Amino acid sequence: MQAWLCEDPVGVDALQWKELPTPQPGAGQLLLRIQAASLNYPDLLIVQGKYQHKPPPPFVPGSEYAGVVEAVGDGVTDFQVGQPVACLSGTGGFASHTLAPAALCLPLPAGFPAVDAAAFIMTYATSHHALLDRAQLKAGETVLVLGAAGGVGTAAIQIAKAAGARVIAAASTDEKCELCRSIGADAAINYSQGNLRDAIKEATGGKGPDVVYDPVGGDFAEPAFRSIGWRGRYLVVGFASGPIPSLPLNLPLLKGASIVGVFWGDYARREPQANAAMLQQLAQWYAQGKVKPVIDRTMPMAELKAAYAHMASRAVKGKLVLVND
Ligand SMILES: NC(=O)c1ccc[n+]([C@@H]2O[C@H](COP(=O)([O-])OP(=O)(O)OC[C@H]3O[C@@H](n4cnc5c(N)ncnc54)[C@H](OP(=O)(O)O)[C@@H]3O)[C@@H](O)[C@H]2O)c1
Repeated sequence: MQAWLCEDPVGVDALQWKELPTPQPGAGQLLLRIQAASLNYPDLLIVQGKYQHKPPPPFVPGSEYAGVVEAVGDGVTDFQVGQPVACLSGTGGFASHTLAPAALCLPLPAGFPAVDAAAFIMTYATSHHALLDRAQLKAGETVLVLGAAGGVGTAAIQIAKAAGARVIAAASTDEKCELCRSIGADAAINYSQGNLRDAIKEATGGKGPDVVYDPVGGDFAEPAFRSIGWRGRYLVVGFASGPIPSLPLNLPLLKGASIVGVFWGDYARREPQANAAMLQQLAQWYAQGKVKPVIDRTMPMAELKAAYAHMASRAVKGKLVLVND
């Protein structure tokens, strides 16, 4: 097998594409032939040694992937050789093969291509858990999505629309705003131009959004929170822009509003049955055409470093996916 090996987590440049012996699955494991692996934000942090989870080197990065079962380890009864699966295991995906814990693998229904499946679990599960569970979004409410053309942002637009909400997308370029409209956003704000509070006011008829979905943090958090509607819910999803913002606590008081934390990974660990039911609903929505990952582009697995550079340029719309021949 071939794999991108991280022997020293000091950054992307230190990764090496290596020939390694193909392993046999142990108890509870599957050997997968990887067809596609998507690039998620933590995949960058993990090779820089900056992610909360620090696997001992050497390790193969690549948190989320899809492929076909080539061998089944002892004790695994619910998967067969030849079966297509998707997996989010944190590492192992940037390779031709990997050993995946069977407990973390999802069998893929017919008609779920590997490229979409590799770009599905992290972003759609996060946005579903955030909007429908943490914020209790209702049909007819208005959602403002920041970083709306990114991975979790595009998923949030589609999920909010599937739930019957009105969606205002906010992103940094006109091109990204156009993409957001094309996947269902009712309005879009280019937040690199003009005053964000004025634009939100105009887009909501002065009422403010019921829910703000924020995976960006930084300078937009406070103006977005100041614009929220009465009984609004502000979803703290991530800090893609870098700085972790702080908010004066009089702001939630004045709006009867809530600041709501979102940590999908821990939700999946602590509430596995609820998470499994959610993933099942998302797979149904995919089959019904209600949600579909936005794929910026696919690139050959051997071009991982170029894919990382493209992600760092902030130009990606939706998801980047690495594919094996
Ligand atoms: N809480 C959870 O459970 C959970 C789960 C998954 C991901 N996350 C977090 O959510 C955040 C977004 O993840 P993602 O997969 O959607 O990432 P992504 O695809 O890279 O999108 C992030 C968006 O943030 C915006 N952004 C603003 N400043 C940026 C900067 N300096 N560098 C890069 N992007 C910048 C960009 O949109 P504009 O150019 O339009 O501003 C970009 O589209 C990450 O912090 C991730 O760790 C949290």
